[in-house]
Amino acid sequence: MHTLHSNTQTKEQKYIELLPQLQALFEGEDDRIANFANCCAALKEVFGFWWVGFYFIKNNQLVLGPFQGPIACTRIAFGKGVCGNSWKTKETIVVDDVSKFDGHIACSSQSKSEIVIPILSNNEVIAVLDIDSENLNCFDEIDKKYLENIVSLLNK
Ligand code: SME
Repeated sequence: MHTLHSNTQTKEQKYIELLPQLQALFEGEDDRIANFANCCAALKEVFGFWWVGFYFIKNNQLVLGPFQGPIACTRIAFGKGVCGNSWKTKETIVVDDVSKFDGHIACSSQSKSEIVIPILSNNEVIAVLDIDSENLNCFDEIDKKYLENIVSLLNK
């Protein structure tokens, strides 16, 4: 896949360019793990995030799936951490400063801000996309909008 690395592009321009590329990539492959894995690689490559990965709900726990970045916690309980809260609320959670999020699970001390997007099927959360940054305040409404869009492509 061809991805641009121009520093002159805004974050939104990068997402706008990435979306159709991911759509084409996912449409050509029906294996879920393969698509989730490439999704992590693309987001890491284009935005340089510290950690990008998926957790899948298995036996009523979140279990680590495809990711890019350092080793991470493998299991997260319902309602625990940012991921477990996103599962519980079925909502995207943006955390500007993880040290101020009650119950944040620190897989890495480098992580300073975070966004978690739930992936729903028949109104049930089946997985979450978790992205961590080494910078505070990395994520906003633009990330929320486009990442929700990206996960909806994965869920077809
Ligand atoms: N910080 C997450 C745990 C997963 S790692 O960041 C990869 C949380 O609080 O749920």
